[in-house]
Amino acid sequence: MKNVLVIYYSQSGQLESIARNIAKPFLNSEEINVVFHEIQLEKPFPFPWNKTTFFDAFPESFLQIPTALKPVSEEILNTKFDLVLLHYQVWYLTPSIPMNSFLKSADGKNILNNTPVITINGSRNMWIMAQEKVKVLLKEANAKLVGNVALVDRVGNLISVITIVNWMFSGVKKRYLGFFPLPGVSDKDIQESDKFGEIMLSEFKQNKLEDLQPKLAEIGAVKISPYLVTVDKTANKIFNKWSNFIHKNQKNRKLLLKLFYVYLFLAIWVISPIVYILHVISYPFKIKTIKKETQYYQGV
Ligand SMILES: Cc1cc2nc3c(=O)[nH]c(=O)nc-3n(C[C@H](O)[C@H](O)[C@H](O)COP(=O)(O)O)c2cc1C
Repeated sequence: MKNVLVIYYSQSGQLESIARNIAKPFLNSEEINVVFHEIQLEKPFPFPWNKTTFFDAFPESFLQIPTALKPVSEEILNTKFDLVLLHYQVWYLTPSIPMNSFLKSADGKNILNNTPVITINGSRNMWIMAQEKVKVLLKEANAKLVGNVALVDRVGNLISVITIVNWMFSGVKKRYLGFFPLPGVSDKDIQESDKFGEIMLSEFKQNKLEDLQPKLAEIGAVKISPYLVTVDKTANKIFNKWSNFIHKNQKNRKLLLKLFYVYLFLAIWVISPIVYILHVISYPFKIKTIKKETQYYQGV
């Protein structure tokens, strides 16, 4: 009997339904014992969010400052898992505070030590640099990253900003104003995500997890947008300055978060379209670098 642990955190339930779909083939296999672990916080984040709570989560998310978690069950702590499916979402270009806290916790490190891990990301669309941060945390926990799946909102970048913000601030996954597309990962992508589970299970059973990632990539588990990679990298540099500045000036936190909100609004609606135009113009000169980068980010 092999043991597989499915770890997730989800506010809306989106990532939980992804986790349950990906785990389906494992649950149908008689030789495998599947255990689910939902990360729970001592002090949960609000859902739905409002403007204040949403921006207040920025500095600590980006600076990867952990928060207290409820303890993991003894049953899980006393089991040696042969594989971990780690589902996380991105908050501010960084693994969400709950996932970051888990990866840095003693329980998390215990569970992950010397264990193969497949990461599954369910975010808006900007997850590349967050995955790089997860790679560092997994290394620190002595885990072995063997696969990655990224499920994203496939509508245009700016449209998904509008629809996801409306979803996060209302708590309801609905068509904003009646005509915008539904927010988040599409139902179809969620329903079909068991196809990734099938491949994971097959490689796992054959003890060939080191061959998993190219097979996942082949069926569309990680699609890379070179434009979003550029935005992600640039925004990381700027978020680094803002988050440190706000964190060090707690007295003026409220005011600085308001200024950050104005900055973010301009960055999304003014700067990112300009970056897009520059990206399109410079594309022919960067094809080689982009190909290399895409290959790297599609791997583990
Ligand atoms: C505070 C906050 C910040 C977020 N920042 C990002 C981000 O930087 N990149 C991204 O792709 N999605 C971002 N998202 C969207 C989440 O990754 C995720 O898709 C959404 O919160 C739904 O996840 P759930 O399963 O927890 O409900 C953010 C969401 C929240 C609440």
